[in-house]
Amino acid sequence: MYTQLEQRGMPEPPVNVSTLRTMKDKGEPIACLTAYDASFAVLVDAAGVDLVLVGDSLGMVIQGHDTTVPVTVDDVVYHSRAVARGLRRAFLVADMPFMSYANPDQALENSVRMMQQGGAMMIKLEGGEGQVEIVEHLARHDIPVCAHLGLKPQSVHKIGGFRVQGREADKAKNMRRAAKKLQDAGADIVLLECVPSELGQSIRDSLEVPVIGIGAGPDVDGQILVLYDILDITQGKTPRFVRNFQAGCSSPLEAIRAYVEAVKDRSYPAPEHCFS
Ligand code: KIV
Repeated sequence: MYTQLEQRGMPEPPVNVSTLRTMKDKGEPIACLTAYDASFAVLVDAAGVDLVLVGDSLGMVIQGHDTTVPVTVDDVVYHSRAVARGLRRAFLVADMPFMSYANPDQALENSVRMMQQGGAMMIKLEGGEGQVEIVEHLARHDIPVCAHLGLKPQSVHKIGGFRVQGREADKAKNMRRAAKKLQDAGADIVLLECVPSELGQSIRDSLEVPVIGIGAGPDVDGQILVLYDILDITQGKTPRFVRNFQAGCSSPLEAIRAYVEAVKDRSYPAPEHCFS
């Protein structure tokens, strides 16, 4: 019974929460990327990405909205199910959309949908200390959780734009405290978006669980980017932390491989992709 999950006919076993924790302990960078459909999931998996996120960024890059706010649970379940069909080795995380985890029971009900219908192995939610009770509730029911701190795109209308978070000493201190409380509540991964590199490093150093960064500097346990940004599909101005990996590559697979290699050898992110 257990061999199906552990082998799936692969030379390498599938990534799970323990694999990610071991990678942190050994100092091996975790390469993460978003994906939204089966075809790209196959490429991302073949390229050696360790963790794939069906992000609510799909609201922007797939659906054409200006923010992630309109994305629904049905949307993420639909895309997660498609991505799950394309993955063999990578660990699949599904994003909880805006207002889909406003209380513990709602969060549990929607997480169960992500896992049972969407094939996800972990859910991600945006939050701070206010979400500790929700994370505790999910952890108590053995739902693996990634807690997203720093720039939280679902709060864009409250914070007044997409901007770097945690630059002020008091805000940095609050973020460090929230990260620790979320870990203690049962979060298995902390994701940091758009924070100064120094803060990324200090949160990474203070936690036992892996810390994945997007615009959080080089000294975290792994990196994540939006697939369409690295493939140069996104038009217009991209955030500072984005690097175009398609340049000089002859196929999307080659570009994704270049991204994985750059994360693993720590040549990405370079200083020009980081915030101080
Ligand atoms: O929705 C998403 O793709 C994300 C990543 C940017 C981390 O949350």
